[in-house]
Amino acid sequence: MMLPFLSVISFTPMVAVFVSVRCLLVAASVMLLSSKLGGEGRKSNSRFTNLMCETYNESYGRFSKCKLNLLARGRAGVHMHLQLFQLPIENVWINWSMYRRYNGFRPFLYNISSNFCKLMENVNHISFEGLVIRAIMTRSNLNHTCPYNHDIVIDNLEFTDDLLKNLPLPQGDYKLQLRFATYKVWRVQVSVFFTRDEP
Ligand SMILES: *[C@@H]1O[C@H](CO)[C@@H](O)[C@H](O)[C@H]1NC(C)=O
Ligand SMILES: *[C@@H]1O[C@H](CO)[C@@H](O)[C@H](O)[C@H]1NC(C)=O
Ligand SMILES: *[C@@H]1O[C@H](CO)[C@@H](O)[C@H](O)[C@H]1NC(C)=O
Ligand SMILES: *[C@@H]1O[C@H](CO)[C@@H](O)[C@H](O)[C@H]1NC(C)=O
Repeated sequence: MMLPFLSVISFTPMVAVFVSVRCLLVAASVMLLSSKLGGEGRKSNSRFTNLMCETYNESYGRFSKCKLNLLARGRAGVHMHLQLFQLPIENVWINWSMYRRYNGFRPFLYNISSNFCKLMENVNHISFEGLVIRAIMTRSNLNHTCPYNHDIVIDNLEFTDDLLKNLPLPQGDYKLQLRFATYKVWRVQVSVFFTRDEP
């Protein structure tokens, strides 16, 4: 059985053989990696654990919904509805700060400020902010560039390891605090708590 196989290879240019073996190896490791990371979050226990929304001025914006919906198998989806009363909005900044729990929550890794409208113009940008925005866009009407002239709704956004696959976040409990300013005035703050747990 071995001989016919070998003779096929000997007629194939060596380069082609190496290339296809490399492709196979890459494909195999990608498959391994994605099943290890839980694919669509099936094997992982990573999940949202809490959500807090605050508004600094009720006549500017008001959260009519801000909660985690319990879904199947211990998962939770972020459900949020922010009513906005001063439209349209076209100048938005976000301060992002990440915290990790040791003894209480301590600042961890990300403390940055970004121009939200610029970010929305280039969401494929490989960055922490880009990853988070892309995840939110899948379940939200925040899926277009500025200006915004409607309420902001997030509908059952689930936490999956796909979301954080490319981020150096070890297992643990985290808080991501997002503070939004429009026209240089702080308007709302959203804090998302999550647990990262490898399968
Ligand atoms: C709250 O927002 C309203 C509407 O934008 C504005 O008229 C008012 O001055 C704001 N109040 C404060 C305390 O910033
Ligand atoms: C983030 O940085 C700002 C200014 O650089 C600082 O005032 C603030 O305390 C920092 N926040 C955290 C959580 O480290
Ligand atoms: C957050 O916003 C404030 C006010 O604009 C700014 O002074 C501060 O540096 C920002 N924090 C970070 C980490 O950029
Ligand atoms: C954004 O999401 C809304 C509601 O989910 C959808 O109707 C709309 O087509 C989406 N727009 C874009 C540009 O993807």
